[in-house]
Amino acid sequence: MPPETAPALLDLRGRFVEGMARAATFVSVITTTGAAGRAGVTVSSMTSVSADGTEPSLLFCLHHRSQSTLTLLANRGFCANLLHENQQGAADLFSGRKNIDGAERFDQIDWAAGQNGQPILGGATASFECDLGTAVLWETHYIIVGKVTKVHLSDDPAALLYGQRAYRRAVSMPKT
Ligand SMILES: Cc1cc2nc3c(=O)[nH]c(=O)nc-3n(C[C@H](O)[C@H](O)[C@H](O)COP(=O)(O)O)c2cc1C
Repeated sequence: MPPETAPALLDLRGRFVEGMARAATFVSVITTTGAAGRAGVTVSSMTSVSADGTEPSLLFCLHHRSQSTLTLLANRGFCANLLHENQQGAADLFSGRKNIDGAERFDQIDWAAGQNGQPILGGATASFECDLGTAVLWETHYIIVGKVTKVHLSDDPAALLYGQRAYRRAVSMPKT
């Protein structure tokens, strides 16, 4: 390990970032459309909250300065698209790595309007249409909770992962 990244030399923030980089998370694209416009953003923070509330619910964290955040909060609806393992291109597109911004990102991929009109990405392994439940601003990020109204499931459940600063796929462990 190069000296500058040796954990012992990192401050609290650096150790936090390094610790979190070791977690393999799945990768989703949050899409939204409505009166405030169309937007999409790649996140690794999407996770389940509860299957057993009035509706199932999920959450993710979005930077408060992201244009997509403002659009989503104004539209009050979105779709959380869990990417398939072959969709690294979509993850790069919606994280700005292809230098295409805003609604123009949607010209580069297949998508269709869902039940609530929210964009469902073609090929996603699961897509969760949501109404905005709540959004809590915690310092730099909004914690956004969605009330799930419909779930679309593809035939292939293989989800794209991100961990140790690279895209990954899940493989089964041999039984012990
Ligand atoms: C794998 C991956 C995971 C990401 N996860 C998050 C996340 O959970 N929350 C967040 O605010 N940004 C996350 N980002 C960064 C955003 O995708 C990126 O800043 C995005 O372009 C911001 O949206 P904007 O272009 O509309 O401002 C992630 C990027 C990548 C590549």
